[in-house]
Amino acid sequence: MKPSILVARAVFPDLVERLRAWFEVDDNPEDHILDRPQLIQRLQGKAGVITTGSERIDAQVLDACPELRAVCNMAVGYNNLDVPACTARGVLCSNTPDVLTETTADFGFALMMATARRITEAEHFLRRGEWTRWAYDMFIGADVHRATLAVLGMGRIGQAIARRGRFGFGMQVIYHNRSRLPADTEAELGARYVDKPTLLREADHLVIVVPYSAESHHLIGAQELAQMKPTATLTNIARGGIVDDVALASALRERRIAAAGLDVFEGEPRVHPDLLAVPNVVLTPHIASATVATRRAMFTLASDNLVAALGCGPDAGRPPTPLNPEVLSRMRPGLT
Ligand code: DGY
Repeated sequence: MKPSILVARAVFPDLVERLRAWFEVDDNPEDHILDRPQLIQRLQGKAGVITTGSERIDAQVLDACPELRAVCNMAVGYNNLDVPACTARGVLCSNTPDVLTETTADFGFALMMATARRITEAEHFLRRGEWTRWAYDMFIGADVHRATLAVLGMGRIGQAIARRGRFGFGMQVIYHNRSRLPADTEAELGARYVDKPTLLREADHLVIVVPYSAESHHLIGAQELAQMKPTATLTNIARGGIVDDVALASALRERRIAAAGLDVFEGEPRVHPDLLAVPNVVLTPHIASATVATRRAMFTLASDNLVAALGCGPDAGRPPTPLNPEVLSRMRPGLT
């Protein structure tokens, strides 16, 4: 008998179809958001699940779904998964690194540019019919080329943004990260490691790309914003909660920094009303990885992880991007 799995959100139907070769698939083409009781109910008897950031898998869910063996997240970020709780119960977790790096970096750069050059603010003005004449200071913004790009979090996506800045726009690249990059990587990127206060102080354009965790919660709050230049911009494509949205809205309102570009929000899809009330912020609904090719690659990688983790396919027992590979040796015989 084929194992049963759940695909928790609507995704490309042709890619879901491929999973039927291996599994009994319960999918969600209507794209209902499953609350915790609904998720637990749909996971009964399921050996695996493909999740997105909207499903939280924690100890309570795992204990209520004892047959679950693999949780494959269609995202590189996995703060919706309690990985230690999964590991303790022998449940394999995976994410989707690499396949979205360049697409997400493209978006981060675009959002930073839109923020620096006030593109959406200017478009709203035009659409309101308020454009009646030229003025020397109409939507005057900040240069991106040759400015100082400050990257907070120099993982794969941070490095891809640094390359765009350095080689595409001649920017001075500084970065701060938990661990410093090897000297040859720094040299290749032309990036200079600095401490966090220096990063904030010197940034013309700060781009945040750190993963969310208890340690990165409100990594940027009122105190940090106060260290930035009044002409600086801040772009967050990482996760809501890394920036204190209320403190940011107040810094924007009082022009203590020039502008912000946000793709992620605390408590999204809700957006704090203070942010909606300030003009100098570009807001997008968590779409940094949203291109057809990349979203298909993300789902394909999540599927490959699930197929292999549940002991099927040519790579049975060897999922490509596990988060807790130590679980593999403990998985039930027959599944790996
Ligand atoms: C990720 O991959 O973590 C993105 O934020 C999800 O779209």
